[in-house]
Amino acid sequence: MSLTNSINSRRSIRAYTDQEISKSDLQEIIECWMHAPSAHNQQAREFFVIEKQKEKDFLAGILQYGKMLPQANKLIIGAFNTFKLKSPNFIQQDMGACTQNILLSAHEKGIGGVRVGVYPEEESAIKAIKEHFNLPAGIEVFNIIALGYPDTSKPLRDKKCLFPEKIHRL
Ligand SMILES: Cc1cc2nc3c(=O)[nH]c(=O)nc-3n(C[C@H](O)[C@H](O)[C@H](O)COP(=O)(O)O)c2cc1C
Repeated sequence: MSLTNSINSRRSIRAYTDQEISKSDLQEIIECWMHAPSAHNQQAREFFVIEKQKEKDFLAGILQYGKMLPQANKLIIGAFNTFKLKSPNFIQQDMGACTQNILLSAHEKGIGGVRVGVYPEEESAIKAIKEHFNLPAGIEVFNIIALGYPDTSKPLRDKKCLFPEKIHRL
């Protein structure tokens, strides 16, 4: 699959089979976030991999849009280290870039995924996650990325992508 085809065929996948994601695939996916650009090359991102069922259930229980989390094979808590920020105003762009890298790398391997947005809206969930996992000082929780092999029996949500009228030439 070409990179363009990968980008254009990626969808948010919220239903998964029981198939295990291999350690080597997970490692490659995780390395892809490290290659994402960051403002002033601040590289303040940190990720926490969740594999235990009870922890997936915990996250689903506190996130209103995270009902798919228990079925995912792996979860990644996307976070950033506030002590390492050189450009705090751009951290959301840094996180978005690396999250998309993760989802595209997974998609290339036939693994589906979806991000569940947390920061900065879900203040009480952020607090609960930090406390529950005893995350180190300075770590701010940004999102949860669910990964798993797609259950293709479940239909995808309809989505229209192409809007020529949104391209403006000045
Ligand atoms: C910042 C952001 C936050 C999102 N949060 C959630 C979420 O909490 N739960 C969810 O199911 N999908 C979430 N999504 C996925 C979007 O719903 C999805 O990308 C959108 O509907 C377009 O569908 P597609 O990803 O299949 O192209 C989020 C996407 C973005 C970019």
